[in-house]
Amino acid sequence: MTKSVLVTNRLFEEVLNPLQNRFEVQVFQQDEPMPRELFKQKVGDKTGLVAMSVDRVDKEIFDIAKSLKVVSTVSVGVDHIDIQTATKRGIMITNTPGVLTETTADLAFALMMAVARRIGEAERYIRSGKWKIPIYRRLLGTDVHDKTLGIIGFGRIGKAVAKRAGGFGMKILYYDIARADKAMESGLNARFVPLDELLSTADFVSLHVPLEKSTEKLMDQKNLQLMKHSAFLINTSRGKVIDEKALIRALRDKKIAAAALDVFEREPHLPRELIEMENIVLTPHIGSASYETRKKMAELAVENCALALEGKKPPCLLNPEVLKGKSDKIS
Ligand code: DGY
Repeated sequence: MTKSVLVTNRLFEEVLNPLQNRFEVQVFQQDEPMPRELFKQKVGDKTGLVAMSVDRVDKEIFDIAKSLKVVSTVSVGVDHIDIQTATKRGIMITNTPGVLTETTADLAFALMMAVARRIGEAERYIRSGKWKIPIYRRLLGTDVHDKTLGIIGFGRIGKAVAKRAGGFGMKILYYDIARADKAMESGLNARFVPLDELLSTADFVSLHVPLEKSTEKLMDQKNLQLMKHSAFLINTSRGKVIDEKALIRALRDKKIAAAALDVFEREPHLPRELIEMENIVLTPHIGSASYETRKKMAELAVENCALALEGKKPPCLLNPEVLKGKSDKIS
């Protein structure tokens, strides 16, 4: 049987070559998400799927795609995939960790700088033609250097943010379910603290947790209220980690100073209140969106998919249990 692959977004032409040379490949040639109905229609006869983080790969898809052997997502986050069902059905799930770490940390840091120094507001001010007199007391921001940064989720990206913060002389606190080893802590000059302490002490709180049941709405009203009134919240992880309604209230009532968000509860739909607020910086989920990084992610996703379809173990396999008892080609 010919193996066929659906790619739900136009990746980079040259990146797709290894896949196109070996399998039948159908690419949704657009820069926008593949419409759900079309996705359902096209995935039915496929053995491989290269998906994006906006494609919901749920039980409905697995019920349709009976021959599916691998879902390779071009993202590190996998909250859009029903891994449990996939595993039960012997379907491999792979993602693209590592290659986007530094780029995402760059954006988290850029957002922190932008929100502290009110870069969005300053830019809007110039564009509106209001800059007629020197800026003395207008648009005063907050220093980032020497402040306290609280990192929630101390995985690859959280640590890369800590590395950057060191260069700004920031005091680094972190919280995670698992504590980093001593050498890592001292290398990054980061101190583990309970979540409550982090929230009530940090000047900047940056979120770097995956979206899971335990992290959904982690930043709810209670936790937002623990933050200092002068503190800033930065989110480059997943929108659902924050209770957006509670955040809107906290920003409106000045319970926290401001926020910078790259991710939202219902992308690409944002509540009007968020768009209309001044004390917020908004970007459209561009954490990994540098040319170099997106290309590496696409290459890794293609490699994961191709190896899985050839019966080999892909490098970023998330559910290795599906391979138990399979051919010894898989090592
Ligand atoms: C990821 O890799 O999870 C990024 O958020 C891009 O979707």
